[in-house]
Amino acid sequence: MQKDNTLIELNKDIPILEAKHLVYEYRTAAAKLIRAVYDVSFNIWPGEFIGLIGHTGSGKSTLLQLLTALEEPDSGTVYFKGQDIFEKKYDRKKLRGKVGLVFQYPEHQLFAETVFADVCFGPLNMGVDRKQAELTAYDTIKKVGLEDECFYKSPFDLSGGQKRRAAIAGVLAMKPEVLILDEPTAGLDPKGRDDLLDMIASLREDAGMTIILVSHSMEDVARYAERIMVMNKGKLLLDDTVSAVFMHQSELKSAGLAVPEVMEIMTALSSSGMPVRDDIFTTDDAAEEILRVLREYRVI
Ligand SMILES: Nc1ncnc2c1ncn2[C@@H]1O[C@H](COP(=O)(O)OP(=O)(O)OP(=O)(O)O)[C@@H](O)[C@H]1O
Ligand SMILES: [Mg+2]
Repeated sequence: MQKDNTLIELNKDIPILEAKHLVYEYRTAAAKLIRAVYDVSFNIWPGEFIGLIGHTGSGKSTLLQLLTALEEPDSGTVYFKGQDIFEKKYDRKKLRGKVGLVFQYPEHQLFAETVFADVCFGPLNMGVDRKQAELTAYDTIKKVGLEDECFYKSPFDLSGGQKRRAAIAGVLAMKPEVLILDEPTAGLDPKGRDDLLDMIASLREDAGMTIILVSHSMEDVARYAERIMVMNKGKLLLDDTVSAVFMHQSELKSAGLAVPEVMEIMTALSSSGMPVRDDIFTTDDAAEEILRVLREYRVI
């Protein structure tokens, strides 16, 4: 069974985001240079769901800071809908409402006295009137699955999972066209993780939002994304459809990454002589493929 998300037709007239030869180095106190992003280029099309993966320290979060103009590249640039976001006169504040970044650590994002005030801040800051901002904040807090009792709590008194939802609500309330999430499921239990990822997938299906999801979970990326970008030591190592990327097992391994377990099982079955396809990466598809072979050979 092929995933539904491949059925969404993409508008390929103009990329919603384009990165061109991005380079970024951190300068440490000891005047040492750390090359975090090196010559990274890609196009992202409206409505895509992209999984961004890479070993710890490979440059994912830094790349996201460049895409949202929170950091300025040493060289190269980023275009949002064809406009250079690092041009002097470009309105970068407005950009951050349109390209919303949910930070890797919610503590870096939450700041207001209550969750409600925190979520209202984005729309207010974008010039939305108070009544509309409050209505949007209310709907958004509900949408991310936060309980009513959280509304007037300090964001810092929430649990890890609740903080993450509050941070996501704060970005969603600005109604971004591109939603970028840096490890949004860290700290959530499996049910919370599935609910959150389903909600994110529905934003794309219902509102046509473009999604970039950083995740350490190959299973999550395989389930939700249709394209994967793999970062390795600051460079973009692979950028292709999910199945094409997962076929590069040895390159992924050398970048410190593993393919989904399901794929390893299918490869093992195939190399031990069972004529199953080895380009399958979801449990449902694997079950169907194994049953197909068993039926074909009249084992069942
Ligand atoms: N503020 C900083 N000062 C100096 N070096 C930094 C800073 N932030 C990140 N780095 C370095 O830049 C490189 C890329 O880091 P980055 O945080 O972008 O990677 P990442 O892929 O997001 O990692 P993780 O999966 O652990 O979140 C790493 O070598 C990291 O140590
Ligand atoms: Mg990171």
